[in-house]
Amino acid sequence: EKIEWDFEAAEKAGYEHFMLKEIHEQVSAIHNTLAGKVSELEGTIDLKELNMSEEEIRKLSRVQILACGTSWHAGLLGKYLFEQLAGIHCDIDICSEYRYRSPVMNDGTLAIAITQSGETADTLAAVREIMSYNCPTLAITNVVGSTITREANSVLYTIAGPEIGVAATKTFSTQLILLYLLAVKFALARGKLSPDYVKRFITAIRKVPGQIQQILNQKEAIKECAENFANSKSYFFLGRHLNYPIALEGALKLKEISYLHAEGFAAGELKHGPIALLEKGTPVITIATRGQTYDKVLSNIKEVKARDAIVIAVADNTDTEIGKYADIVLTVPRSDELLSPLLSVVVLQLLAYYTALARGCSIDKPRNLAKSVTVE
Ligand code: G6P
Repeated sequence: EKIEWDFEAAEKAGYEHFMLKEIHEQVSAIHNTLAGKVSELEGTIDLKELNMSEEEIRKLSRVQILACGTSWHAGLLGKYLFEQLAGIHCDIDICSEYRYRSPVMNDGTLAIAITQSGETADTLAAVREIMSYNCPTLAITNVVGSTITREANSVLYTIAGPEIGVAATKTFSTQLILLYLLAVKFALARGKLSPDYVKRFITAIRKVPGQIQQILNQKEAIKECAENFANSKSYFFLGRHLNYPIALEGALKLKEISYLHAEGFAAGELKHGPIALLEKGTPVITIATRGQTYDKVLSNIKEVKARDAIVIAVADNTDTEIGKYADIVLTVPRSDELLSPLLSVVVLQLLAYYTALARGCSIDKPRNLAKSVTVE
């Protein structure tokens, strides 16, 4: 008797789509990416592959991040981290723009190229450009042996395992993990953070996989919300500060797999144009976890409500106030403000996934998109 194996079904391990499986795998992917790199006891971060001495880190005057798509969103959060934690000036460019804008090079620049596939043509071209100025270049990638790993001076790997779904999920959150570790390591070397702070940071970042698991355990609420709005014409995503890049990423995920119009904005920009687009019933997903911009975000929520749009807030599970203003609250475990983007993004990934599911879209292979874009 011949047994027919469905390899794809076997690889999905019971999940309906690779994307859902990979969203779940963020728990282990983050754990694995942290493993061996942090010492809670000593408050140290060990990134051997970086190949930089403390002295070299102290001498850095600038970080230049180069990336495309979702990796660019990770890089944008990286900019906030390098500047806020380590006090290092950081520029970030979209690779397809970098070569054409006559960038000014400075001594003491470290280039960081972020690319999950390691094969994006625009990113490779930008890396070649910056390396022609003898600028040391670090690659962050998920694919061992990819082209970028042969070109960059050093490589840090996200330990996410293969990502099959075209829409990046676990590669994004593990890219963020490496950027957090780099920024904190640089801050430590440059005397901006104390070893005690770093110990507390390590304790907190180690808790992230468990906190993501808590969000996954409550995914039914996100599914229900997604189904309720799956026929909306247009979606907005708002976030401020560290959650601004996450708002952009939430909108991109929704566009990519559900083919709905979605835009992400820095919440403070709402009044400079986008507010004109709000109509009765437009869903506005607003990241409102506690932090230094919380009160400002609450005012943005009130502005949105005043236009009869619908506010779906992503908030801490300890927040008893937000329900007074938002129509729907999707919660994340209360965490350190610094690390909260790692949690809010999971809610937005699930929201995009369940919206696409409700709309019957081809989730793992969205139309017109490729996992790695090897043409410029
Ligand atoms: C493609 C993928 C995106 C990805 C982007 C950059 O457009 O569909 O998910 O973010 O390329 O890819 P990279 O491999 O450089 O991170």
